Amino acid sequence: YTSPSESARNILTANDRGGYTIPTSGLYPYQWNWDSAIAALGFAEFDIDRAWVELETLFSGQWADGMVPHILFHNPDPGYFPGPDVWGGIGPIPSSGITQPPLAATMARRILDMDAEAGAKRMRALFPAMLAWHRWIMKWRLDDYGAVCTTHPWEAGRDNAPDWDSAMAGIDASDVGEYQRRDTSHVNSDDRPTKYDYDRYIKLVQIGREVRWDQQKLLTLNPFRVADPTMSFTTLRAARDLLAISAQLGLEADGLHADIARLDAGAQSLWNDTLDAFDARDAHSGEWAQSVSNASYLCWYAGIESPQMLERLKSILTTVPHPIPSYDPNLPKFDERRYWRGPTWAFMNMLAGFGLAGMGHGVEAEALRLKTARLIAGHGFAEYFDPITGGPAGGNSFTWTAAVWLHWAG
Ligand code: DGY
Repeated sequence: YTSPSESARNILTANDRGGYTIPTSGLYPYQWNWDSAIAALGFAEFDIDRAWVELETLFSGQWADGMVPHILFHNPDPGYFPGPDVWGGIGPIPSSGITQPPLAATMARRILDMDAEAGAKRMRALFPAMLAWHRWIMKWRLDDYGAVCTTHPWEAGRDNAPDWDSAMAGIDASDVGEYQRRDTSHVNSDDRPTKYDYDRYIKLVQIGREVRWDQQKLLTLNPFRVADPTMSFTTLRAARDLLAISAQLGLEADGLHADIARLDAGAQSLWNDTLDAFDARDAHSGEWAQSVSNASYLCWYAGIESPQMLERLKSILTTVPHPIPSYDPNLPKFDERRYWRGPTWAFMNMLAGFGLAGMGHGVEAEALRLKTARLIAGHGFAEYFDPITGGPAGGNSFTWTAAVWLHWAG
């Protein structure tokens, strides 16, 4: 008998490529930004030095302008598309050209709290890089309200969420050309984005690459710009954590107070009154997505209270067998297996749980934790899960699901 905790540690160790951890072999053979921050949290439960190394490796790929890429292609792997040659990243390590929700500062603070003695030096060394990334986001990703925008569905990390449907419809991908998808040769194509989606993902990569990821130019050239709860809530939370770390370690953090106020107003601006939930808003058209997603429930993680979201959460906790679904089952676009259009993601539950616990909603945080634990214990360390049946979907032996078990659920 192998206990779930032992299996979880084995998964992290098996996915360790020396200094960084891949999400799962085959489907995702490189270092992904937000996966890596979650991996660090898992490692911290049994090897705190390795946890810091994970974050240090991530920041070794930081671009000169402060951007931290969403994928670092440390070692070429033909099993993944689009690879380094398609992206044409301009950083110190071959990389993609977009970022991902900034979880690193928040996870680093948790790891620092677990062992302040082991962590203080590592944290000090990483802090300027984390602050530079924060400033890059402030400079290039805010809309007029101070909400944080995603410039590619992969940047928000919720690839095929209904949040992007109208912005995606505005992308002309007719000249994208021939390419060979690799994801559907590793996992069931019903669990993955469609070809319609992929054509647009690749088209956006081509647009960025064409101007060598010049952000100033992309402000006008990129048709896709959506103010989103994932980017907005995680950036706000990261800024709050950077401020706390700077106070704890006596580090310079000019401007963070003002940034937090701006990000807080921006995150609040994502409240859609008609939907009665936090929603995504197209930054070009101003149109709401009308999407209640699992990212909508990250408000507490960002330090924002919402009685309406709490009511919704209570209802989801009692009516959906395996919450939190990535898209509300009562809305017409719900698809229980297709990636971010319905399935439950354990790490998103953990982030929501951190927020709930931090804002005094211990009962809901605990209910969510127990349901997540039961889901993983019963169905394995899958990438994501069917919220109705609990069935595993996407890749297996997945790093962030293992890390969630070790740090929070198990
Ligand atoms: C993929 O390849 O599906 C990834 O989600 C991109 O980040």
